[in-house]
Amino acid sequence: SMVHHYNFTVVTINTTKLCSSKPIVTINGRFPGPTLYARESDNVLVRVTNHVQYNITIHWHGVRQLRTGWADGPAYITQCPIQPGENYLYNFTLTGQRGTLLWHAHISWQRATVHGAVVILPKKGVPYPFPKPDKEKIIILGDWWKADTEAVINQALQTGLPPNLSDAHIINGNPGPVSNCSSDRAYTLHVKSGTTYLLRIINVALNDELFFKIAGHNLTVVEVDASYTKPLSTDTVFLGPGQTTNVLLTADKGVGKYLIAVSPFMDTVVAVDNLTAIGFLRYKDTVPFSPLTLTPIPPINATSVTSTFSRSLRSLNSKKYPATVPLTVDHSLLFTIGVGIDPCSTCTNGSKSVGAINNVSFIMPTTALLQAHYYNISGVFTTDFPPTPPIPFNYTGNPPSNLQTNNGTKLYKLAYNSTVELIIQGNSIIAPESHPTHLHGFNFFEIARGVGNYDPQKDPKKYNLVDPVERNTISVPTAGWSAIRFRADNPGIWFFHCHLEVHTSWGLKMAFLVNNGKGPNESILPPPKDLPKC
Ligand code: C2O
Repeated sequence: SMVHHYNFTVVTINTTKLCSSKPIVTINGRFPGPTLYARESDNVLVRVTNHVQYNITIHWHGVRQLRTGWADGPAYITQCPIQPGENYLYNFTLTGQRGTLLWHAHISWQRATVHGAVVILPKKGVPYPFPKPDKEKIIILGDWWKADTEAVINQALQTGLPPNLSDAHIINGNPGPVSNCSSDRAYTLHVKSGTTYLLRIINVALNDELFFKIAGHNLTVVEVDASYTKPLSTDTVFLGPGQTTNVLLTADKGVGKYLIAVSPFMDTVVAVDNLTAIGFLRYKDTVPFSPLTLTPIPPINATSVTSTFSRSLRSLNSKKYPATVPLTVDHSLLFTIGVGIDPCSTCTNGSKSVGAINNVSFIMPTTALLQAHYYNISGVFTTDFPPTPPIPFNYTGNPPSNLQTNNGTKLYKLAYNSTVELIIQGNSIIAPESHPTHLHGFNFFEIARGVGNYDPQKDPKKYNLVDPVERNTISVPTAGWSAIRFRADNPGIWFFHCHLEVHTSWGLKMAFLVNNGKGPNESILPPPKDLPKC
């Protein structure tokens, strides 16, 4: 295996999009940021040097960080932020993973412009489990605000009002011809007839689950969240923020220019956001002519498309070679997740939105939790996170009357190597919403999903323990639930949160504490010397 060195310098650049200019925080002046390439089992060293006025951290989203939580990146969870003028060396080894992941800033809303792709190739000589593509392309889907995103979220938190919606969606930084601004370009995928492409699609958007579609072309999904899947042929790909999907695309139309569209999934009409980013697929040697139009996006029945898509994803496992899903469960957890309204005397309307899990809204500490854990600093967190909701209620249908949330920096403790089943149930307090929920430090198996209330009698009968897809971020269905299982074989403190940044900012987050095991390779490694201080 190899060692890869990267220098990430955090700098501000001026950008113009949607006829509007603003300074943005970037890595090495690039937007989207540089791609990190490595192979399975390689060691990656990234020196992050902060030359902006904001604190920064970088998270390698989906990288397991086996025993190396110090390199995971979420601010105040595993590390204190890198302050202006300071630097920190992220040092981690890619264990048992290959595929597409992403990296992004993990403090406030800096992810908006500080993000990029992680491409982990299989070990040398190991082929993909699908026909070898002729070419590979990275496609990063995001959202864009004309305003400064730090101002957007800070104002929302002060007033208690929801933050402004984004002004556009973008493909590799380009909104396309949607805004009629001369500075806006369209992403163009140049293809050669008869060639097969592996598209590594990444959703880094702050606040939207997204549909991706190319007119006239079928896509074959072969991998999600850096886990291979059985080939799934589809015309629409659905990705929650933080999710990645690799698809094979065969350029089989000969000539022409075809629309590429990216548009958000609107779960309910909490806020109407129907901005579509437009790009083009263009065959080489095609003389300019108008593009072929696309069937409508989002699909007419968006909810059923998302659920069919998610249900159809299966790992490469089979009855003969079943997935390594834990078959017994040590911790049986039920988390209700959602957003509610709490009183707030300093807020504009006397109330504010709060995100909570099992009625606990997470309070960010001012000392990094992992440091507090490692050095036994008391008073930073408690380990009384409730394994089930405090009061049973009906999570769907008529919204239940709001329970005022508890606040706290509460963690849930897992013994090393224990097995966990977690039902994530949308609580629909304000309205049914979907929640793309991310777990740090692990891949988990998505063993079932459903609409309405999880039924502990009936639903376990539907579990897929043979070939469930393995992921790090799950789109919990609107007004529904997801069931996941994982083995707590990674000691440390691992963040668990909704990857819609607005919900995270409101407190829809918690963390797991996994104890060290007794064996020689079952403890968290010592912290690096240059670990930032708070
Ligand atoms: Cu991609 Cu905790 O985030």
